[in-house]
Amino acid sequence: MTFLKPGLILASSVLVISACGGGEPTTTPTAQNTVEKLEVTETSSGAAAPASAPEEEGANAFAALPEPYQTADYNRGRRTFKLCQSCHTLNEGGQNLVGPNLYGIFGREIGAVEGFTYSKAVQESDIVWTPEILAEWLESPRNFLPGNKMSFAGVRRPEDRTAVIAYIMAETGYSAE
Ligand code: HEC
Repeated sequence: MTFLKPGLILASSVLVISACGGGEPTTTPTAQNTVEKLEVTETSSGAAAPASAPEEEGANAFAALPEPYQTADYNRGRRTFKLCQSCHTLNEGGQNLVGPNLYGIFGREIGAVEGFTYSKAVQESDIVWTPEILAEWLESPRNFLPGNKMSFAGVRRPEDRTAVIAYIMAETGYSAE
């Protein structure tokens, strides 16, 4: 038997240690670790400190969106969505809570999630969701569509609205077509 491959040592170190009679599996992985470190250094070119990673992830998340959503603040959007998440899920096939699942909301008529019982006001409305209409709904749900049953005062600050809409677009498979 040839000496164990590094991957195998990492994956089953307990087994390896007992198989080697307690020997430390240090010799073989060393060369590979060095290569990996070199590669990381080359690609990151020193620009990306770990502290800025979440923001970069956010910038990428919004990159395919139209303005003003593309340049919205990802962290602000994620934070603002915390106001909604007790009532709404965003993932595909996610469950309805107090409010309906929001996956695929853009381009769809209001009140279209199967298995969710909407208010009469929503059932009788025929608006189609766009980011702009969602902004109006979120400014004041009650004023936008009187009689709806979303008990939520609204998102007051415009920059919070833009950011949370960008976040919902990115999370629910928004596409411009
Ligand atoms: C207290 C629970 C609650 C909160 C908080 C809440 N919603 Fe709702 N939402 C609802 C309910 C209930 C409905 C269904 C309204 C109706 O049928 O009249 C709804 C409907 C909606 C709809 C229309 C869905 C469809 O299928 O047409 C959207 C979009 C929406 N909410 C977005 C949001 C966003 C974004 C937030 C956070 C900023 C939020 N909601 C916060 C309960 C909530």
